[in-house]
Amino acid sequence: MKEEYFSLIVPTYNEYENIEELISIVGNILNSNNIKYEILICDDNSPDKTWEKVSEISKKDPRVKLIRRFRNKGLIPAVLEGMERSEGSILGVMDADLQHDVSILPRMIALINQYDLIIASRYLENTVNSLSIFRKFLSKMGIYLANIILGLKITDPLSGYFVLRKSIFLELSHLINAKGFKILLQILGRKKNIQIIEVPYSFGKRLKGETKLTGEVAIDFLAELISLRLRRYISSRFIRYSIIGLSGILINLMGQLVCNTILDIRENSLKNNEYSIPGISVIIGFILSVLSNFYWNNLWTFKEKKIEGIFKNIQGFFRYLFITLIGFLIQISVWRFSLEGLISMFSYYSYFLYLANIIGIFCATTWNYYISKNFMWKIES
Ligand code: GDD
Ligand code: MN
Repeated sequence: MKEEYFSLIVPTYNEYENIEELISIVGNILNSNNIKYEILICDDNSPDKTWEKVSEISKKDPRVKLIRRFRNKGLIPAVLEGMERSEGSILGVMDADLQHDVSILPRMIALINQYDLIIASRYLENTVNSLSIFRKFLSKMGIYLANIILGLKITDPLSGYFVLRKSIFLELSHLINAKGFKILLQILGRKKNIQIIEVPYSFGKRLKGETKLTGEVAIDFLAELISLRLRRYISSRFIRYSIIGLSGILINLMGQLVCNTILDIRENSLKNNEYSIPGISVIIGFILSVLSNFYWNNLWTFKEKKIEGIFKNIQGFFRYLFITLIGFLIQISVWRFSLEGLISMFSYYSYFLYLANIIGIFCATTWNYYISKNFMWKIES
């Protein structure tokens, strides 16, 4: 094989007990295959002092490099930083707990002569023996959805073990969402026309310590898949916002229903010939939905800028109510305006009432989102 330099990126968080063994196994295997390499350990300043151990090792072996990280913590940011600071033309990513079978690594690296991306797969020969039935099921579901939504045919698009050309990474790095779910998924979702091959391996048991990724949130994952599919037109934050908006409509209707039936608040709208003031149940439904939207957007859509404290939350709620009310005015005005426009253009009626309403809702949502993002939760760029 051609002389190329290999950079292995290993993200770590509390892997003190595993890291030395991993480094020595990887080193032995790469050495005996005459592969020139560096190992970048990207540690998020682990409380168990993984970084201290790595720093000791790297003093004896300069091929082992420690990246001790204090800011912007997390698995994807750690891997990205490793990739950015790597010196090799071939990159690999591997976990530190020896669940990923190191013995297939030389074969993966050799395949870089024919392929751009080599994925180690747990499911090519269905060799997962260390996951509980429930986690296996979730994992399979996720893979199925990822393939359907992104139009792929990969048995393990959620793998944390893969090798790729650095040039591919450099082409894509500005598109990778550091708050995303899986880095491989981001690469697969962003890049078309790359040659991919999967290599089977048997997903073993963690050597020591415990897994950190059990709390993987399914709905975040779905939002990411859809946003990857829609590419850069729509951000995953906007999708979260819209999902909550939709749930708000349900809550609105349910609140109205409960008021009307169970609580027996009758529609007491004052009607005269031209105006009708909405009944109390409509108002209650609306307020409930604003309350729920505010709560969930604060918790999920804008979680990195979460508003905390009772007073701040009450204040936030009223601001949000105000934004939404203006949004509502926009919705009605746009609805009215586009309805008239449509009718004058086509001189008939049909489904324009609904079409105009959709245009109105779209404009209002865009307004609500824009103001919420930039002025309420003040998300940068
Ligand atoms: N720097 C950093 N920061 N490293 C992290 C963080 C973090 O916030 N969270 C986890 N890691 C490191 C762990 O130390 C480990 O080396 C690796 O990332 C994977 O974490 P595990 O907790 O062992 O994850 P897992 O075993 O449940 O799942 C892994 O294997 C799957 C199969 O390949 C992950 O790599 C999955 O992405 C993958 O699908
Ligand atoms: Mn693991």
